Amino acid sequence: MGGLAEALQGRRVIICTGPGGVGKTSCAAALALHSARQGARVLVLTIDPAKRLADALGLRSLDHQPQKIEADGLRGELWALMLDVRQTFDELIQRHAPNPAQARRILRNGFYQYLTDSLPGAQEFMAVEKLHALVEGDRFDLIVVDTPPAANALDFLDAPQRILDVVDSRTLRFLFQPYKAGGRSGFGLFSRGGSLISKTVARFVGSEMLASISEFIGEFQGLYDGFRERSQRVQELLLGPESGFLLVVSPASLRFGEAGAFRDALSARGFPLLGVIANRVRRDYPLPDPDLEPAQWLRRHQPELSPAEGRALLLAARRLAALAAADREDLRRGFAAELPSAQAEQRPEDIHDLPGLAWLEARLFGGGSRVE
Ligand SMILES: Nc1ncnc2c1ncn2[C@@H]1O[C@H](COP(=O)(O)OP(=O)(O)OP(=O)(O)O)[C@@H](O)[C@H]1O
Ligand SMILES: [Mg+2]
Repeated sequence: MGGLAEALQGRRVIICTGPGGVGKTSCAAALALHSARQGARVLVLTIDPAKRLADALGLRSLDHQPQKIEADGLRGELWALMLDVRQTFDELIQRHAPNPAQARRILRNGFYQYLTDSLPGAQEFMAVEKLHALVEGDRFDLIVVDTPPAANALDFLDAPQRILDVVDSRTLRFLFQPYKAGGRSGFGLFSRGGSLISKTVARFVGSEMLASISEFIGEFQGLYDGFRERSQRVQELLLGPESGFLLVVSPASLRFGEAGAFRDALSARGFPLLGVIANRVRRDYPLPDPDLEPAQWLRRHQPELSPAEGRALLLAARRLAALAAADREDLRRGFAAELPSAQAEQRPEDIHDLPGLAWLEARLFGGGSRVE
């Protein structure tokens, strides 16, 4: 069983995934910090709208553009970025529309604005686009992706394929199909202004929105293949040797089977799992002379405590030991022993600044205790 450092060698994209609340965001940032210390230009990209990455880095907020993080002892560079769905969409249109006038028309279009604000999965779609732009941009040696909280994490894995499915779907083909009728040309169903179908649709969405949809579909035509190509490339990148997934788990997530479900989900999609991080493992505080009888123990080690205080102390130590033993047992049973791994214990405080991240980095890479 090797360490994480070797498993990460030579990767350009690392994706931290796993159940909710296990420490994906914190681990992604700690990993990025580690690689930046080693001399790489690293970007950590978060899709988590809860601003947890900014918090972990000790920043007030994070922007849609890469923001440089100043930290001591970096031989390389550390950058962070929080995905903004709307801005990514806008940039995409600006970059790929055939000309600036068409880009402006799309950006002003009412349906486009509705779509970018409320399309289910828009976040994951845009994460794929952003990842593509960043990888192509070649500004970073390594991009560490922090996947969103539990419910959406698997959606992110499926995003490239879903984009391909949508783009290739028959319905869309039909809608996007250019047609010519009676000397007028238009696109599929929606622009047949006088048809019964579009009158019916108009009753539901309003005729103004219908006109927007129709115009949008027309304007969007030329961008359609680009979506497919980029999603395809991201899909290949994620499956290829330059990328890898790290599964972050906690003993509790192993106990409830959530961590196993993630592992299965990755393997079902053929994504390479590089290693497992067990985070938030509860530790105990072993007392000396465990075999001494309680009264004797207190006399020897804590003579200043009252008998009630002494009993409370011993009880607490025993409880902590039992919790730590339960975590060890969950890790032993649920852990993939054949994979590179690292472990960090649950510490009393949250991770909300660079020293906190450095603590986590030291646990993950600096010979902190490993899963046996
Ligand atoms: N080893 C640790 N010890 C103590 N607190 C930790 C540890 N790792 C993470 N935390 C804290 O646990 C909370 C959740 O961590 P984090 O946000 O990194 O998890 P997440 O998996 O990204 O969560 P979500 O699924 O909500 O995105 C945070 O408050 C963080 O500071
Ligand atoms: Mg998170």
